Amino acid sequence: MEERYNKLLSTITERKTEVDKFIEVLRSETTWLTSPASTKYHLNKEGGLLEHSVGVAETLLRIRDALAPGISDESCVITGLFHDVGKVGMPGKPYYLPEVKNGKHTGAYTINSEVVAMGLSLRSLYLISQYIPLSDDEAQAIAYHDGMYVPEGRAVAHRETPLLLLLHWADMWAASVREKKR
Ligand SMILES: [Fe+2]
Ligand SMILES: [Fe+2]
Repeated sequence: MEERYNKLLSTITERKTEVDKFIEVLRSETTWLTSPASTKYHLNKEGGLLEHSVGVAETLLRIRDALAPGISDESCVITGLFHDVGKVGMPGKPYYLPEVKNGKHTGAYTINSEVVAMGLSLRSLYLISQYIPLSDDEAQAIAYHDGMYVPEGRAVAHRETPLLLLLHWADMWAASVREKKR
């Protein structure tokens, strides 16, 4: 996983300083490298969020190659890798907490009520924007990556940029097909 993660990061050139700073904050102040991807849906295990995020970025690059070669690697990697970064919660306040019984992690996770409530994709956008300058297409893709699965998707219905459409499908493909094959 680390190798695939580093390979994706190595494609970042223009915003390398900003991305390096962001991943250092994520590594040192959040559960980015250990968080599950959900409490009970997909990849609800330690490291699940990173595995999902890497899978989405890789899938996005492949769909981009086929359908929209004009979109840069950097746009794909930043939006693919960090679209769900809101799932870490806030620095110092993890969103998912391991459920512990008799001093042992049961394998399940609960949601930390101490983290201020916010839609996950909005929190992703909030966290990323503090460190990485985003284009308007990238901001739309991150904010609305759940598409019509959530009511907010209506705000951009029929006005989705190609990057949003590709990110949405890469996310669906990773969560519903790739991650289920294991
Ligand atoms: Fe998401
Ligand atoms: Fe996702």
